[in-house]
Amino acid sequence: MSEDREIRNIGVLTSGGDAPGMNAVIRSVVRGAAYYGYHVFGVRRGFHGLWRGDIIELNPRMVSEKLQRGGTFLMTARSKTFNSPEGVAKGIEMSKIFNLDTLVTIGGDGTFRGARDLCQQGFPVIGIPATIDNDIACTEYSIGYDTAMNTAMEAIDKLRDTASSHERCSVIEVMGRKAGYIALNVGIACGAEVVMIPEVEHDLQKDVIKPLLEARNRGKKHYIVIVAEGCAHATEISQQIEDITGIEARPTILGHLQRGGSPTVRDRYMASMMGLHAVDCIRENRLNRLIAYKDGHLLDIDLLEAMDMKKTIDSNDVKSARILST
Ligand code: F6P
Repeated sequence: MSEDREIRNIGVLTSGGDAPGMNAVIRSVVRGAAYYGYHVFGVRRGFHGLWRGDIIELNPRMVSEKLQRGGTFLMTARSKTFNSPEGVAKGIEMSKIFNLDTLVTIGGDGTFRGARDLCQQGFPVIGIPATIDNDIACTEYSIGYDTAMNTAMEAIDKLRDTASSHERCSVIEVMGRKAGYIALNVGIACGAEVVMIPEVEHDLQKDVIKPLLEARNRGKKHYIVIVAEGCAHATEISQQIEDITGIEARPTILGHLQRGGSPTVRDRYMASMMGLHAVDCIRENRLNRLIAYKDGHLLDIDLLEAMDMKKTIDSNDVKSARILST
């Protein structure tokens, strides 16, 4: 399919781990596209749904009451279907059967790998970053991140109440896959004594035990340790802290709680604006683009270039977390 073919029908799917705000993106794409006279089709269950032709037409009324809902009403999957060129070709065949001219893919790294495969086989796509991990290199923000951090923060505030009543150490494991964005930012927001993230090497004695003992010696009565799942396990760290320091410790794994819930203002706003930006790209025939947020602005970047980019944690945030924990 050539890139300058006239676009009439737009497909939209969510793939990979769900993120709060995905519904708001779908709504924005559907309403924005309908406003400009396009037909929109929802592909259910991600790339697997594309592969099996699980595709329905959507209209603006069908996305009412979705903005404030967590999850994704189109459903999602971590599909292996696209791991082979034949799987991708079948996805393209289904797109042709349903007359889709382009596909808006909403998700994280895995989703954009699927999108890249489609684009490399000649089917045009647009990507919108939505993952609580905020680990998409080309963008400073991905949808779902703010809601997940707020969920974690509320849970940690509650854990602090019980930790302080018992003079305990609460060791909390947060999501993020191989990235420490949730852990570090929530750590700063919750005043954690220790934050452990995969991007920074840790020595248990020097970086965990010593700061806790020093905090105790300064008169602190309770302690919050935040562990990114890609760095260590809360249960093990908690046991080690208790064994070495004698401070009672309790582990909590926040897990999938962080993926649910009604999206925050920031996520609803970003989702709405990114969805409209995707429609603008299609209108202007700028295809195979990934929507990104940088320096306070939305922009779109060539999908293949975007996927080659690397993202690193802000070392100033790491330092700030340490300063504030004293
Ligand atoms: O990528 C989002 C995420 O929630 C990660 O933080 C986590 O490691 C992973 O998905 C969990 O995946 P699943 O829902 O398949 O268990």
